[in-house]
Amino acid sequence: MRSMHPLSPVVISLAIGFLLGVSLTGCAPGEPPAPEYQPEILPLPEQLATYEEMKIPEDNPMTPEKVALGRQLFFDKRLSADGSRSCYSCHLCENGLTDGLPTAIGALNKKLTRASPTLWNIGYHSEFYWDGRSGSLEKQAMAAWKGGNMGADVEVATATINAVSGYRAQFQTVFGGEATPERIVQAISAFERTIISGNTPFDRWRAGDETAVSEEVKKGYEVFKKLECDNCHDGVLFTDMQYHNVGIGMDAEKPDIGRFKVTEKEEDTGAFKTPTLRDIAKSGPYFHNGSVATLEEAVDLMIGGGKPNKYLDRTNLKKRKATDDEKKNLIAFLGSLTNDCQLTEPKLPE
Ligand code: HEC
Ligand code: HEC
Repeated sequence: MRSMHPLSPVVISLAIGFLLGVSLTGCAPGEPPAPEYQPEILPLPEQLATYEEMKIPEDNPMTPEKVALGRQLFFDKRLSADGSRSCYSCHLCENGLTDGLPTAIGALNKKLTRASPTLWNIGYHSEFYWDGRSGSLEKQAMAAWKGGNMGADVEVATATINAVSGYRAQFQTVFGGEATPERIVQAISAFERTIISGNTPFDRWRAGDETAVSEEVKKGYEVFKKLECDNCHDGVLFTDMQYHNVGIGMDAEKPDIGRFKVTEKEEDTGAFKTPTLRDIAKSGPYFHNGSVATLEEAVDLMIGGGKPNKYLDRTNLKKRKATDDEKKNLIAFLGSLTNDCQLTEPKLPE
């Protein structure tokens, strides 16, 4: 409804006002009080029917009101050090909930070392980041907020939130008190648990609708299984949530040690969490360091068995051969995991 229809709402309401004999200039004395902020409260989304139940922390139960509040905070740049970044700035719909950059750039223009991962079905994970160093969404959100991503002093940012009457009212309703850093990350995390992908063309096909995808997609799924991509990109989440070295970035002068940093096990050197393949057609550049620009190249690299190095997971990833047709179908299959993205920016309280 961007363009003005000849019978625009303004014209219509003027006409109605005239017919009713109501003077539109009649309300001049004293500004009317600013209308109170009304959050858009939506029902909680359906969980994945094809996966085990999402684990919700006991101290952070989900309510539609909390999720609505978390959604606003997820989109609110006032949480960052310089007002330049919200969580959404690096997890965008049009980029498959990533930022489209090889490696992310945080608030205050801080260059980060890794690519923004997608957030689809993130509530089903139990370890976060490419190396899994964070044990809950709440902890991850706090780290992103304080760290290079948002660069914030959380006490200062919390005071900013408490100065907004629309937020104050919602924190009162949801938490029975004012905003605190912990409550802010709890609300954001509750919202993140609603970022669910389970209704792609692929899912509709698997649920029985033979017309949901093309023949190429169906053949491509067979190729995916034949090449044993599902050794790691497993199940409906398309990730085993485990860590594997597939060789990306190992040829760098100082390679990113990945999972080793968490476990200090030598074999975890250069291992990263298997990314989901949901929305993969939109989430390039690919891999933890954004080193590969196109999906075709990324798939070729994986079919080729990754990049040889001392810690390569040769048990799960073997060098394979695929015909051009098989590759084409495999790419078509990956395209059927493209998600309809509903993460729209809500009106924020001023
Ligand atoms: C400047 C860009 C940027 C901003 C802003 C940002 N993120 Fe991220 N996000 C990233 C990057 C990069 C990573 C991966 C970092 C790593 O693995 O070391 C990440 C990782 C994550 C993960 C882990 C995903 C997984 O697969 O384990 C979650 C969840 C997440 N971000 C949520 C958030 C939330 C919530 C906010 C706001 C508080 C936020 N992000 C703000 C760039 C950003
Ligand atoms: C050994 C487990 C394993 C197997 C088998 C495997 N992958 Fe992966 N895949 C990974 C890991 C781990 C990454 C992330 C590596 C990194 O960024 O360092 C990845 C990344 C990807 C990416 C880039 C994802 C992103 O978000 O950047 C694509 C695309 C991909 N794999 C497709 C495939 C295909 C197609 C196959 C089968 C030919 C396959 N993978 C087999 C573990 C695996």
